[in-house]
Amino acid sequence: MSQTSAETIYLKDYTPFGWTVEEVHLTFALHPTKTRVKSRIRFVPNPDVPPQEFFLHGENLTLISAAIDGATIPPKITPKGLTADVPVGPFVWESEVEISPETNTALEGLYMSNGMYCTQCEAEGFRKITYYPDRPDVMSTFTVRVEGSEPVLLSNGNKGDAGTGFAEWHDPWPKPAYLFALVAGDLVNHPDNFKTQSGRDVELNIWVRKGDEDKCAFGMQALKASMTWDEEVYGREYDLDIFNIVAVDDFNMGAMENKGLNIFNSSCVLASPETSTDDNFERIEAIIAHEYFHNWTGNRITCRDWFQLCLKEGLTVYRDSQFTSDLRSAPVKRISDVIDLRGRQFREDGGPLAHPVRPESFVEINNFYTATVYEKGAEVIGMLKRLVGDEDYYKALDLYFTRHDGDAATIEDWLNVFEEVTGRNLKRFKRWYSSAGTPRLTVTDKFKDGRYTLTFKQETPPTPGQPQKKPRVIPIAVGLLGPNGDEVQPTTLLEMTKRQQSFSFEGLASKPVASILRDFSAPVVLEHERSNAERAFLLAHDTDPFNKWEAGQALRRASLIASVTTGAAPDTAFLDAVVRVARDDSLDPAFRALVLQPIGQDDLAATLHAQGHTPDPQAIYDASETMAQSLAQELADSLPRLYADTTVDGPFVPDATGAGKRALNGRILYMLTRMDGGAQARAQFKTADNMTLKLAALNALLGQDTGTDEAENFFQLWKGDRLVMDKWFAAQVALAKPEKAADVAEALTAHPLFTPKNPNRFRAVFGALTMNHAGFHHSSGRGYALLADWLIKLDALNPQTTARMCTAFQTFARYDDTRRSLAKAQLTRILSTNDLSRDTTEMVTRILE
Ligand code: ARG
Ligand code: ZN
Repeated sequence: MSQTSAETIYLKDYTPFGWTVEEVHLTFALHPTKTRVKSRIRFVPNPDVPPQEFFLHGENLTLISAAIDGATIPPKITPKGLTADVPVGPFVWESEVEISPETNTALEGLYMSNGMYCTQCEAEGFRKITYYPDRPDVMSTFTVRVEGSEPVLLSNGNKGDAGTGFAEWHDPWPKPAYLFALVAGDLVNHPDNFKTQSGRDVELNIWVRKGDEDKCAFGMQALKASMTWDEEVYGREYDLDIFNIVAVDDFNMGAMENKGLNIFNSSCVLASPETSTDDNFERIEAIIAHEYFHNWTGNRITCRDWFQLCLKEGLTVYRDSQFTSDLRSAPVKRISDVIDLRGRQFREDGGPLAHPVRPESFVEINNFYTATVYEKGAEVIGMLKRLVGDEDYYKALDLYFTRHDGDAATIEDWLNVFEEVTGRNLKRFKRWYSSAGTPRLTVTDKFKDGRYTLTFKQETPPTPGQPQKKPRVIPIAVGLLGPNGDEVQPTTLLEMTKRQQSFSFEGLASKPVASILRDFSAPVVLEHERSNAERAFLLAHDTDPFNKWEAGQALRRASLIASVTTGAAPDTAFLDAVVRVARDDSLDPAFRALVLQPIGQDDLAATLHAQGHTPDPQAIYDASETMAQSLAQELADSLPRLYADTTVDGPFVPDATGAGKRALNGRILYMLTRMDGGAQARAQFKTADNMTLKLAALNALLGQDTGTDEAENFFQLWKGDRLVMDKWFAAQVALAKPEKAADVAEALTAHPLFTPKNPNRFRAVFGALTMNHAGFHHSSGRGYALLADWLIKLDALNPQTTARMCTAFQTFARYDDTRRSLAKAQLTRILSTNDLSRDTTEMVTRILE
């Protein structure tokens, strides 16, 4: 596809489809290069819609035959589908097409992965399977017959007839085509069952390749926990007789919520202590929950059009974060989510790819499965819940589920249920959905005659297409601490609605220390000038775990910024405060690990840029290294004792308690390796019986530019395991010194186990390169050039993953002239590639604008 054929789609142009679809019958005769798909679809004119031309989407299909009411017709084929003359009343459409799953390297539609057939239809993949009105507001029941020699033949819904070489499936719940799925292969299952709250029995299966059956137990346990949680917290019950999960090695995203047949990237479901880290376990649990929760928020209630994507994604991310908070530690989950939000969403919101949570236009919808739609979309729901309170939140959700069950809904529908339940007017609040950019909230305070006043100002910088911003409703959770560290005002929610607003607290004996934006009550950048003494005081005394951590971050950030801009040594106030936290055994080890975690170098570059500096990646790297070294030295005496305390007795259990201790182990070991030449890390690498400890040891060594033997040993141990090999590829690039990162990545692309066809492997190498901030942005331009070389190669195979990886360049304008022109040259080179995909064209064009 060339640039000129790319067409922009606008939210304002939405029109309903002219027909309803009453029933879909599909028959698949599977073959690697010649799969035949027959469809029989009953269309009924929609009386509410003015007559329109009959158009069905279809891409890369070979039409064999088409008929209306049994009579063969010659439809008019276009590059994007077909049109046909149809009767005025209801009619039955039949067609047969041929497709080639084996050569489908885009991994969209029906494709093959290691000899197994599978599908990915969201957002617009179904049109690569057959001719159909491939839009989320067209919903129908599906009956599917799969014919093939594979032992396992799966589709959505409940089981129908089955015999040698075929299986039939019926899904009684009307659904849009993006939720269709089919899987066929030589798979084995990990079976279980679940009784719903109303007493219905549900068969559960996780289907995997032979050899992976010992990695399913954790995922199954997470699934059952999710089913129970959704019943208890949201009153939502599962609605089919069977729920299948399938693990697939080649997958563009994390997982997909197809009705009754969730398909997962194998990295997001397979788990064992020997091969998976605590982070992997937690992520798998969250993604299993996420996809399961979509059964109600996404499937039973879907989106009217793709502009409403946050309706299902923001809400489902919000729900899975509640689930993780309930099962594990709420403060740790909140802090981790905010680190992720700042690292990915603030980054997006502050650059050329910024877009509203509900975008108003797109060229390729796959480019809008973003941190803004997902994570900021979830933050917006969190704010809504804070503003209306828990009770009204769940009342509104109940109304949403009863009123919109079976609907393809909009953000307006969603906000309406809240307005009805609470009597609030949410017009202003709605700006969170329509306005892009991260608000900056500045605060000043005053104390006089027992009265403490906080004055807030909000301002959102311009974003593409939105030069001016209106003020937003910002929930600001505030608590006050007295001079001895006692809380004199527990958490109160201030509701800011204007550009500038003051709030007062009366009757205070002395000037308090304010803890502002507790629990990160809104996704904003808080600008609060205060002394390091005050920050250290909050780190020691704040009762809000998020702000306690945030105080440490503020100290660390200020110190690093000073080092980068003035060459100052690491701040002693910071070092002292952090040493105290690290040694404080009364604090949760997971929390201490988070306080010890370095601030991302990209995040620091963003802060410097926002403060008017041109960030120098090498200087940021050097300052971060110096800071880490100083911290290790300050703590040197305690490190052996702290290290010993992180030992977890007994067999590996991937729960929050064990994971917290091991997270702290990783931090301590990293520091210890700076002090002891790697002796402890080598010992841990040898004796570790789980991947968390083993990888922590390998990382600690690689981080000190050593560990070659261990890396080789790790390779020999795990070269047969795809998912562990991804970790091996990634670690070497992620931890390489800036001047070596591109060379290490390039050398790995020549490794026999490297292939751009597997998105996980491609991301292992290049995701790691782009996250090695000083390495990717090295002044030689080698990082930029290498990534561009491979993006150009990958685009011909897999546009979706290519376009996503282009986001590495989205911050290029922050840097100095040399880097800017080097990056620009690579982006221009990508854009000038012949037959560049629509996906990548849109991304690169937006980045360059
Ligand atoms: N709905 C899926 C999820 O969030 C994501 C699928 C996105 N896939 C895509 N090709 N855009 O769970
Ligand atoms: Zn989702």
